Amino acid sequence: MEAQIQSLAIQALAEIAACADESQLEALRVRLLGKGGELTALSDRMRELSKEDKPRIGKVLNETRASVNAAMEARNAALTVAQEARAFEGVDVSLPSTGFSQGALHPITQLMDRAVQIFRRMGFALADGPDIETEWHCFDALNTPADHPARNEADTFYMPDGRLLRTHTSSIQIRTLEHMAPPVRIIAPGAAYRRDEVDATHLAQFTQMEGLYVDEDVTLGDLRGTLEFFFRELFGEDAEFRFRPHFFPFTEPSFEVDIKAAALGGGRWLEIAGCGMVDPAVFEAVNLRRGDSALDPERYTGFAFGFGLDRLAMIMSQVPDIRLFTDGDQRFLSQF
Ligand code: DAH
Repeated sequence: MEAQIQSLAIQALAEIAACADESQLEALRVRLLGKGGELTALSDRMRELSKEDKPRIGKVLNETRASVNAAMEARNAALTVAQEARAFEGVDVSLPSTGFSQGALHPITQLMDRAVQIFRRMGFALADGPDIETEWHCFDALNTPADHPARNEADTFYMPDGRLLRTHTSSIQIRTLEHMAPPVRIIAPGAAYRRDEVDATHLAQFTQMEGLYVDEDVTLGDLRGTLEFFFRELFGEDAEFRFRPHFFPFTEPSFEVDIKAAALGGGRWLEIAGCGMVDPAVFEAVNLRRGDSALDPERYTGFAFGFGLDRLAMIMSQVPDIRLFTDGDQRFLSQF
C-alpha cells in the first residue's frame, strides 16, 4: 500500500504542475481529495491494515496529503499571477496617468465658512431653521404687520397651505428664541427667497447670514463693535464703516451698514448689512407663544443683524453674473 501511495503522490504532483487554469486544478482536487477521491479511498483502506503497519502508513498518507495540498496552493498562486500578467499585456504601466480633477468648495460656501469661523471665535453658536416657514415665524413674530409690502403675494412664494419660502433668515431668530433663554448668541447662515426678476444681479434664491445676541445689558456699542470686528477680520483692517439710521420692523433703532474696503473694490461705499436693537415687541410675541416670560423685555436687550453673502462673494471673486453661482458649470466652479 505504501508503494501505491507513493506512486499516486508522484502522479498527482505532475498533474498539478500541468494544470493550465483554476478550473482544471479544482477538478483535480475533487478527483484526489473529494469524497470518493483517490487519496480519500486510500485513507479509507487504513482500516484493513495491521496494528503494526497503521502508524507508518498513516504518516505517509498524511505527508502525501499535505504535500498535495501545498502543491495545489502554489499552483493556484502561480496561475493567478499569470492571469494578472496577461491582463496587463500591451499596457505600458510606466506611462504617466491621466490624473483626476479635484473639486473645490463653492465661492459662497467658502465665504460662509470664513464668516462662521470668525463668529465662532466671538462665542456665537450655529443655529438653523426650515426654508419653508410659517407666516408667523417669518413675519408676525418679527413685528411685521399683515399689510407690510414684504408680505405681498407678488414678492413672496406662498404654499397652498399658507406657509412660504422664508424671505429672510430673520425667522431663525424666532426659531431660536422659542427654545432658548438668554444668554443667546447665534449666527444662522441659510437660503432666503424672493420673487425677484432673475437677472445678472438678482436670483429668486440667495444666501443670508443672520446674527442674534440677547442678554442683560447688550448695547448698541456691542452691536457696532461686533460687526466692525467681524467685517475687519473678513475684509481687512482698512475697512471703514457707516451706520445709517433705517427702519426694520423687528429692530428699534435700526441701521443699515455701509462699508468701504480695498478688498471690496475700495473707493465706494457698499451697503452691506441691516441691523439694530431687537424690538421688545419681538420678545413679547415669542413669550406669548412660549407661555412664559423667559424673554423679559425689562431685563434683556439684544441686537440682531443680517447680510447677504452672494453680492460679497461676487465682488471678492470678481464674478460678473450672479446666475453663474447656480448654473453648476464645472468650468466656472473649478476656478475657485
Ligand atoms: N432681514 C433683513 C433683510 O432681509 C435684514 C436684517 C435687518 C436682519 C435688520 C436683521 C436686522 O437681523 O436686525 O433685509
